[in-house]
Amino acid sequence: MYSTSTFQVPDLDKRHSGFPAVHKDWWKESAQGIPSLITALPGPKSKITHDNAAKYMKGLSSQVTLFPVSFERGHGVMLEDVDGNKYLDFSSGIYVTSLGHCHPKISEAVAHYAKTLMNCHDFSTTIKEILLEKMASVLPKGLNQVQLYSDGSSAVEAGLRACRAINGKHEFLGFFRDFHGKSMGAVSAAQMIRGDVFSFGPTRAPGFYMMPKPDPYRPHFKKADGSIDTDAYISFYDEFFRESTVGNVTAVVLEPVQGWAGSIFSPDDFVAKLKAWCEKKKILLFADEVLAGMGRTGEWMAMNHYNTVPDVITFGKSFGNGFPVTAMVVKEEYGDAINKISASSSYGGNPMACAAALASIEVIQEEHLLENVRTVGKYFMKRMEEMKANHPIVGDVKGKGFLLGMELVKDKHTKEPFDEAGKLVYQKAFKKGLAWIPAGHILRMSPPLIMDQEYAEKGLQIIEESIWEVEKHFGYVH
Ligand SMILES: Cc1ncc(COP(=O)(O)O)c(C=O)c1O
Repeated sequence: MYSTSTFQVPDLDKRHSGFPAVHKDWWKESAQGIPSLITALPGPKSKITHDNAAKYMKGLSSQVTLFPVSFERGHGVMLEDVDGNKYLDFSSGIYVTSLGHCHPKISEAVAHYAKTLMNCHDFSTTIKEILLEKMASVLPKGLNQVQLYSDGSSAVEAGLRACRAINGKHEFLGFFRDFHGKSMGAVSAAQMIRGDVFSFGPTRAPGFYMMPKPDPYRPHFKKADGSIDTDAYISFYDEFFRESTVGNVTAVVLEPVQGWAGSIFSPDDFVAKLKAWCEKKKILLFADEVLAGMGRTGEWMAMNHYNTVPDVITFGKSFGNGFPVTAMVVKEEYGDAINKISASSSYGGNPMACAAALASIEVIQEEHLLENVRTVGKYFMKRMEEMKANHPIVGDVKGKGFLLGMELVKDKHTKEPFDEAGKLVYQKAFKKGLAWIPAGHILRMSPPLIMDQEYAEKGLQIIEESIWEVEKHFGYVH
């Protein structure tokens, strides 16, 4: 059990939250025997709770619509529904509770500030002071000018405004199938054809443009040997810049890994080439790491995989392990731009949020979670590669660390997306006790970063069994 008896008010000398570390196996006891199911799923109480809530609550995600269960409790990698069924969590909510549900140290940190100081607008507090220093210590040198928010979309909006303030230019270049949130600017900088985000009028905001981005499985530009041609993408951007914009581009807005689109990583050489192109054109590079940042890929930032430092960056989701806290950060030389955009908000950087974020970063360090994600992530990839080799409908497997995806196709040669199979595999695995994330024909996995190989294997077996059943259902195997 976690005890706060050793809690010292944030320790300025040690630059620490004051909340002690916990043993890295804190989650193992509640994970014993999961999944453990005592009713058919969704269970009777789940159905009543969901149906009553759904009379009033609209706009549910596909994650919920396809499997309307009602949850009561979470601990580590375990989620329990209102009927007492226990699930293995391969979702972290939606990439959010990345250090495990109700991590004792983080819950305690939030509870402490819920009792001492919940909100004092954007006045400085000791916990905020230490958080900002801690962030600067894990981010690349010089990426240290910060404003805090309480959702990813607000951080992205602030990032867009900061770009305009930095260089005085106004146009934005975004990428096909990237996602940045559901507010007006965020929607304009991303794909718009989804029902749930296409609600802001007949077009994206003026001055926002979209360009193709290299997807290794579905490339637009290939070399003679069939490999993806990243130089051709950059040449296309040159032409696009010349022909489509008015030459007043402030920034390229990049999702370094496409989360919503299905865990798609660009080829290793692409992002550095993109940054070099931005520099040539005097354009900023804004990396939206709301989903991928803070450990999920085995690095503090997904951009580290590409050895590239962006000018502007956003964090969210894993940042507070479920407590709503997000950040927009710019390079030191651009700090004044944040002053120019009246960047503060009502809830951004409140003491509970700072405590959650600081405790989360400390947990990643204390429990060596980046290392765990890299090691167990390799195991995930190896097993997924085996599934690709053994299953006719698994067209591609992708990801790094614990940001993983599996693309289902009707035919490996034509690569025709298999949406019906995507839905069915998602539902079948959920019925077997695996909480996870659908994305049309791409299945997404986002387990808590604390997960070890034993539980990774349990979840993978459920997925493989479900794929096999779906292949049988559609007549691919007998
Ligand atoms: C890359 C990215 N940016 C921004 C957002 C928006 O974050 P929020 O839902 O907290 O507004 C998301 C949400 O999924 C995201 O994946």
